[in-house]
Amino acid sequence: MFYQSLTKAIGNTPLIKFSADCPATILIKLEYLNPGGSVKDRSALYLIEKAEKSGQLKPGGTIIDASSGNQGIATAMIGAMKGYKVIISVSEKISQEKLKTIQAYGAEIIMSKPTKFLEDPESYHSKALALHKKTPNSFMPNQYFNPVNAEAHYYSLGPEIWEQTDGKITHFFAAAGTGGHVSGVGKYLKEKNPNIRVIAFDSENSWRSTHGKPKPYKVEGMGIDFDSPVLNKNVIDEILTVSDRDALAMLKKLAHNYGLLVGPTSGAVAYATFEYAKKLDNKAICVMVFGDSGRAYLSKNFYEQGKGKQLLKSTKTKQYRELEKLQI
Ligand SMILES: Cc1ncc(COP(=O)(O)O)c(C=O)c1O
Repeated sequence: MFYQSLTKAIGNTPLIKFSADCPATILIKLEYLNPGGSVKDRSALYLIEKAEKSGQLKPGGTIIDASSGNQGIATAMIGAMKGYKVIISVSEKISQEKLKTIQAYGAEIIMSKPTKFLEDPESYHSKALALHKKTPNSFMPNQYFNPVNAEAHYYSLGPEIWEQTDGKITHFFAAAGTGGHVSGVGKYLKEKNPNIRVIAFDSENSWRSTHGKPKPYKVEGMGIDFDSPVLNKNVIDEILTVSDRDALAMLKKLAHNYGLLVGPTSGAVAYATFEYAKKLDNKAICVMVFGDSGRAYLSKNFYEQGKGKQLLKSTKTKQYRELEKLQI
């Protein structure tokens, strides 16, 4: 069996059982096995193909979007395959691996200093929007403000999880950035069975968690930093916060003890899901999403042996110290 094209290979990722030390069943959706390496392949593909169908994106066009990295990688990959010019606007928080991956697909980068708010005219999102407005024949998927982002997961990730668990899932756990995948999957699952609990994870330092007074944080991709129209609170039962410390400490354990080399959002999801699962019985069937691979963060030294409590201190890069000064 072969796929007709690269984009047809997006999705249908494996769901595997994690041998957790608790009565509940814990299953992991390995989204890092998508061709572009993350859950964002699904949203980028859906946004691009919907725009092609509606005529918003035409042959010879330019795709411009803002991204913490993975949506940019997915957009660059799909754009390269379909023959579009791609420009991705990022902030200096992005890992070198993600930055170089976007460039390796031939996309252009706009780099911005991190800003406190996404709506700031100097933010990576605002710069993408401004460029889109002045670029003829351009299309902006606008993952942060376009609810179609969540629709992508309603039609793809949600049904897969439902089918792979034979409809037996009781709890769904995911990290929220735009809120796209937790909202899309949440809507699908709630329509199938309103009793399924949907739990989103947010950074403890995000705009939402700090009631509008965000502080710097290191986990790239998780963090509700604006009033997102993509985040559908009607289908999310709980939003729980996770610290950098707990998320990053889990990364080493997952890689060293379980062979799961995953990115920081997966560390956050694993830590918080295991905590949550302590109060569940053996009837619970939990699905958590591991959004991307640790290969995109190796330069950040999150997986090194024996660093223990020094981990956070040792990974305070120059960029991170600048972020702290800015109180972002
Ligand atoms: C690895 C990873 N996990 C989780 C998320 C959060 O996903 P969403 O934007 O769908 O909320 C992102 C977002 O960039 C991500 O890159």
